[in-house]
Amino acid sequence: MSERAPFLNRTYSAYYHRERPTADKELTRVGPGTPCGEYLRRFWQPVIQSSELGKVPRRLRILGEDLVAFRDQSGAIGLLELHCPHRGTSLEFGLIDQHGIRCCYHGWLFGADGTILETPGEPADSTLKDRLFHGAYPAREHAGLVFTYMGPPDKQPDFPILDTFDMPGYRQTARAPTIWECNWLQVKENSMDPAHLAFLHTLPGSEGFTEDFKEKPEWDWMETPLGMVYIDTRRQSDRVWVRVADFILPNIHQFPPNADPMALRNSVSRPQATTWAVPLDDTHTMQIGYHRAPEGKEVRRGPGFGQDDSRPYEERQRVPGDYDAQVSIHGGIARHGLEHLASTDRGIIMMRNMIRRGIRAVKNGEDLGCRILRNGGVIPTYSHDRIVSGVAPAPTPEADIELLRETARKVVTTTIEAGSAEA
Ligand code: FES
Ligand SMILES: [Fe+2]
Repeated sequence: MSERAPFLNRTYSAYYHRERPTADKELTRVGPGTPCGEYLRRFWQPVIQSSELGKVPRRLRILGEDLVAFRDQSGAIGLLELHCPHRGTSLEFGLIDQHGIRCCYHGWLFGADGTILETPGEPADSTLKDRLFHGAYPAREHAGLVFTYMGPPDKQPDFPILDTFDMPGYRQTARAPTIWECNWLQVKENSMDPAHLAFLHTLPGSEGFTEDFKEKPEWDWMETPLGMVYIDTRRQSDRVWVRVADFILPNIHQFPPNADPMALRNSVSRPQATTWAVPLDDTHTMQIGYHRAPEGKEVRRGPGFGQDDSRPYEERQRVPGDYDAQVSIHGGIARHGLEHLASTDRGIIMMRNMIRRGIRAVKNGEDLGCRILRNGGVIPTYSHDRIVSGVAPAPTPEADIELLRETARKVVTTTIEAGSAEA
């Protein structure tokens, strides 16, 4: 027998399967000072719904940091380090003031930008508060969500406005966040994994996707100026249904409605969800973002089927959903060395490479690229469904696959060149 024990190359081989590769630290660790953590900190991240900022402060954990969020009585939103700089009491017990938040222990008052406004127990001539600040991050509210930037202040990008935030004919609302008990990367990878639609989402008893998704389409992936897209492409007689989903660096995705656009009586449908996978720490991830629906239709507010752990365990075993499939991967943080990537995982490989490039660029002090995402203005995104008519089937099945791929790639290229996925 060789030095290395054989495994997975014969029947009954589990005994030999003793190698336990560790997680890919570069891609999965998000705390302060980690390469991925520093990378993710270069982008604005949503942290809470505006509607959750009420009369009491909210304790948050974002990228491994404990924070407190509040809206003071003047309307300013503060995002501060959780522990009071005096002697460490948690500001989740703080009192919201006209300007800022007051620690409950000795009454120090902190403004939304971290200025120390009052230190009531100190002598009147104390300059302590003028010499010290409390740790704060900038907060920005947009359409029902509060975003923050947690990176180096001199590297702060403009706030990104995606073209999907305000689409004519659609209504948009912030969705209630859900917490997934696993690493952010395995959650985000799902967005470039169209193969699971044809299996997981069409299991008997699952909800949310139409029958059309049972049929195995042609899958392809392309880089875009924002990240990448997956394309799944289906023939419908002499029409071709091209379904394009965005992955937008570093942790955003958008996908079109879960139904054939012809059935929706449209030839073009734009994304009904924009979702960030915000790491709370290495093993907890918040899915948060926007849902939208065409005017006159109800906008979904809660999580869709299988998007959380709220169903009874046995029911989740009988009809598992995205949450179960993703959170259960290797107990919360994927071990890439245990995987056997297959042809349907080409998008996953592209995505990991892309994120790794960004992480290394930040680590090496190089240009981060994806300038379009960071320089303000409305950002064109590419996700949409499109029906292309008048595409007669090619003479052989192989040639038809090629034709479907070409048709789909042309749709994406044209969309990128046009700078818009509008009809
Ligand atoms: S611990 Fe906060 S004011 Fe003393
Ligand atoms: Fe899914």
